[in-house]
Amino acid sequence: MNVILLGPPGAGKGTQAKRLEEKHKLIQLSTGDMLRAAVASGNDLGKKAKEIMDAGQLVPDNLMIDLISDRIDQPDCTNGFILDGFPRTTPQAEALDSMLAEKGLKLHSVIEMKVQDEILVDRITGRYTCANCGAGYHDSFQQPRVAGVCDACGGTEFTRRSDDTAETVRSRLAAYHAQTAPILPYYGEKGVLKAVDGMTGIDEVTAQIEDALGAA
Ligand code: AP5
Ligand code: MG
Repeated sequence: MNVILLGPPGAGKGTQAKRLEEKHKLIQLSTGDMLRAAVASGNDLGKKAKEIMDAGQLVPDNLMIDLISDRIDQPDCTNGFILDGFPRTTPQAEALDSMLAEKGLKLHSVIEMKVQDEILVDRITGRYTCANCGAGYHDSFQQPRVAGVCDACGGTEFTRRSDDTAETVRSRLAAYHAQTAPILPYYGEKGVLKAVDGMTGIDEVTAQIEDALGAA
């Protein structure tokens, strides 16, 4: 099963992708995580992407399309994948269609996670992750069971993303509305688009996604 999670910054794509990954034995393909890994490693892609990401803008389509096409070819994707953060523009959506057709793969569903902009700023500025295993938390909405200790690995170091400032979030939201939201009708016409209310609690969103996938 190959699924796209589509929604604005902070909609919960990463949170829900991790759950789908575990439950359905799929692989989460987060282009944001791949770019952050590239920035951390200091490779060519990372050097090109760093400033663009910190400005809340989109990395050029050709770089993203090559990145995801190579990743889908890896053997761990054969059982299916969850695209988190890709496609984000019409050229990316069209390129994804061509690459899936070439590779003989099908798209099961595109899940649109609907959340109002005002809520997203709080979600993003309160977010942090375990520096050891990457598990995601939030200052108010998703705290570890024991304060300061990661539920998943027991790690005690946490990090915040450099693009998670209130100012950058506004640019990221603007990019979403201008460049990414316009691809929703493209998937609507193909009959694969399912919307969920991303403003409910995390477990409730998971339940809605499971329903949507079952009904697809
Ligand atoms: P990316 O990493 O994809 O960031 P994003 O789309 O801005 O999305 P986020 O990761 O911020 O949010 P999320 O939806 O994953 O939410 P999360 O689950 O963490 O991209 C970063 C940058 O990389 C882009 O700006 C761009 O520059 C570049 N890039 C990436 N892909 C690209 C592409 N294809 N083309 C071009 N450029 C690209 O949740 C957020 C917080 O809310 C968490 O703390 C969580 O605990 C909490 N939360 C989640 N769900 C709920 C809920 N239901 N209720 C309450 N709290 C919740
Ligand atoms: Mg994410």
